[in-house]
Amino acid sequence: MKGFLLPCLATASLAVFPLGAQSIRDLAAERGLRFGAAVDPSHFSESLYSDTLAREFNQVEPENAMKFGPTHPGLNVYSFASADSIAAFAAAHGMALRGHTLVWHSNLPSWLTGATWTTAQLSNILQDHISTVVGHYKDQVFAWDVVNEAFNDNGTLRSTIWSNSPGIGLAGTAYIEQAFRWARAASPKAYLYYNDYNAESTGVKSDAVYAMAKDFKARGVPLDGIGMQMHLTSAAPNLTGIEANMRRLADLGLMIDITELDVRLTVNSSGIASDALLATEAQTYHDIVAVCLKIPLCRGVQTWGFTDKYSWVPGTYPGLGAALEFDAGYRPKPAYASMVGALSNTPPVLAAADLVSAASYGGGSVSPGEIVALFNTNPGPAALAVADFTDGRLPTSLSGVRLLFDGIAAPLLYTVTGQTAAIAPFFLAGRSTTQMQYEYKGIQSAAVTVAVSPVHPALFAANASGSGPGAILDLAYHPVTAANPARRGGYVILYATGAGLTSPLPGDGQLATDTASLSARATVTIGGVDCAVSYAGAAPGLVAGGAQVNVLVSAGVPSGEQPVVLTVGGVSSPASVTVFVE
Ligand code: G3I
Repeated sequence: MKGFLLPCLATASLAVFPLGAQSIRDLAAERGLRFGAAVDPSHFSESLYSDTLAREFNQVEPENAMKFGPTHPGLNVYSFASADSIAAFAAAHGMALRGHTLVWHSNLPSWLTGATWTTAQLSNILQDHISTVVGHYKDQVFAWDVVNEAFNDNGTLRSTIWSNSPGIGLAGTAYIEQAFRWARAASPKAYLYYNDYNAESTGVKSDAVYAMAKDFKARGVPLDGIGMQMHLTSAAPNLTGIEANMRRLADLGLMIDITELDVRLTVNSSGIASDALLATEAQTYHDIVAVCLKIPLCRGVQTWGFTDKYSWVPGTYPGLGAALEFDAGYRPKPAYASMVGALSNTPPVLAAADLVSAASYGGGSVSPGEIVALFNTNPGPAALAVADFTDGRLPTSLSGVRLLFDGIAAPLLYTVTGQTAAIAPFFLAGRSTTQMQYEYKGIQSAAVTVAVSPVHPALFAANASGSGPGAILDLAYHPVTAANPARRGGYVILYATGAGLTSPLPGDGQLATDTASLSARATVTIGGVDCAVSYAGAAPGLVAGGAQVNVLVSAGVPSGEQPVVLTVGGVSSPASVTVFVE
């Protein structure tokens, strides 16, 4: 019966660190984070390259292979072999594939830059490019950098072939908007990002990106996220400014991805940086991962390459290099170890709104004994862990996860990264608020205040979605369905939670083995008609906090699928759960 109540489950030698028991990929999965690397498929045949990539990352992005030049070598000629091999690598290793990039001023083919075009011709070329490339990868690429680097560092729009030289005929950010609309038309599913550099912290450039994003969101332009490239130096990043900028973008409902992280250092003629610089680099890598983990909508971290053997930095900045987390021999650097530390030790972030009824998914308050679900971006086991009753009780710790109310761990039903189901302790009765904390592997979130109410009733739906046909049985314990409707003058059994205390009161997390009446009065309507309640209390066979309500279906209840409402102590459940009546 427990399953009934489960909501939907939905190189310098000194500088080299041993690999830990868990890869970055494993740790990122526990965080619900995508952790990626930009890749060049010409290196896939190098086993250390492929093995390291598959072991340490759960996302890849072509460093160059999906750009305009490589994919669109002639006016009506497309070439996908190179990028397809990256898509195949991603699929073979269970990695997410990010697409980069559709509209950019760089890496354009000479057939395009060497000719003279009207704005109408360019508009057609760009629309065809976006439609063709996004369409080609519509089942593989989950997110696109649609437009890349459209702003100058002073916040003005960059002058490019697509914007105004001659442009596609749309002034200001309208050409960017058009690109997003074409991309959405070609792939309704893919997340669409704007990606840029030097716009990570607050400042004129990020202000310009923010203003565009705000305008796009207000007008329904299909913008889903902002990519922060994060090409950094040995100077300490402005973490306060980065966090503030991430927060204001997240407040618009946008996801944030760190898309091109690297930290370029002064190197000697062999490409080696000093231990001191490598330590500085490690701190920066740590801090960038940690700031992302503070923002629930920061969903991915990606480095621009992963081995110092292959990086754009030395070619672009002579005398600089050693920018990535593995050295040229694929040995993990201090930067690697520091990211492991950040993924392991950064406290989870909680919000009161993350806690909802496991029956209705409605939040706002928690009641004693309520079966609750916590949805968040918190760490947890990557695979679902389901609790068992031991000696008639659920555990208060499961796969390293605990959920604390006023410092006391609650019984847990299941947990997986991003979702945990628990039973609010009965000692909350009489309190008006509780301090909630989430813990994983001993690292606790800060406490958040959650309102406590005596009751917070909700009926379980049969498909655990919070609405639709209820988890309702007839007296033979058969589900009440359209094919087995409730009969007037007969009884149905409803299952609920948030119904408050019972008498006698069982222990927290205890398997209910006997009846125990609700302390508060319970009434039920079906199709708006009052129905007599013959029993309202503990649900034998379910965990304490689950409630069973036996109801006589009144003669006046209308036929068909009717809303069922349970009212306990004057508070009604949402009317979204239904029952079929003959
Ligand atoms: O593929 C050709 C090859 O056939 C030719 O022999 C060789 C000769 O130079 O060039 C090769 O193309 C180069 C390509 O990288 C692949 O190595 C291009 O010239 C070179 O311009 C290109 O550089 C890339 C650059 O973007 C421009 O597309 C870098 O690898 C890549 O790291 C860099 O990435 C950018 C992001 O896309 C956007 N943000 C900044 C970031 C760093 O500049």
